[in-house]
Amino acid sequence: MRDVIIACDFSSREQTLAFLDRFTGRKPFVKIGMELFYACGPEIVREIKARGHKIFLDLKLHDIPNTVRKAMSVLSRLDVDMTNVHAAGTIDMMRAALEGLTRPDGTRPLLIAVTQLTSTSQERMQNELLIGATINETIVKYAQNAKAAGLDGVVCSPLEAELVKNNCSNDFMTVTPGIRFADAAADDQVRITTPARAREIGSDFIVVGRPITAADDPVEAYERCCREFIGE
Ligand code: C5P
Repeated sequence: MRDVIIACDFSSREQTLAFLDRFTGRKPFVKIGMELFYACGPEIVREIKARGHKIFLDLKLHDIPNTVRKAMSVLSRLDVDMTNVHAAGTIDMMRAALEGLTRPDGTRPLLIAVTQLTSTSQERMQNELLIGATINETIVKYAQNAKAAGLDGVVCSPLEAELVKNNCSNDFMTVTPGIRFADAAADDQVRITTPARAREIGSDFIVVGRPITAADDPVEAYERCCREFIGE
């Protein structure tokens, strides 16, 4: 199940497809986020899917349960492989998302939850959102809520993956960004780790953007990630 997901943080269809054209061998699992989806619409998902890639559609839905249920049934028809919601939307909303995603034949994309965004500091949680618990307490509680709702896992920092696994279960998936090669720059990421260490910690999927997209040889960087994280 372990896999490397490339974050395709490009703003245009042309840039994205030119990047993906380089991968003539193994077709990577790719993450499409809000920027590309809002710029190009659902067609970009169909196009990348038709090229043989698996897709994590990272739209982080958060609304009333009925709206999320209906939106998820539309995304499910796009045949994505993984998508997500904010756990802050509550257990009811996450259950509704799962219902919406489930196709008539019972199959569905993987559904994971965002716990606390890494951009949210403890100070902001307390002063702006009036949440008194620590970040780790909220991550654990939100992950447990996601599990109670029947979701497959959460997005979290690799340094939190162990905490989530210990407090949910070992088979509850962790999808972890914040990955850097040992010999590379951190960019704007703070809590980072290497693909090899993410594997040891127990991440199920790593989400890797700039270490691959901005590399001189993106295919070689991707293959290096796979060797370190998957072992192949
Ligand atoms: O380029 P880089 O490897 O830092 O990209 C990481 C990807 O993971 C980006 O698409 C970023 O938005 C996403 N992400 C993250 N941290 C989170 C959640 C998502 O870096 N907590």
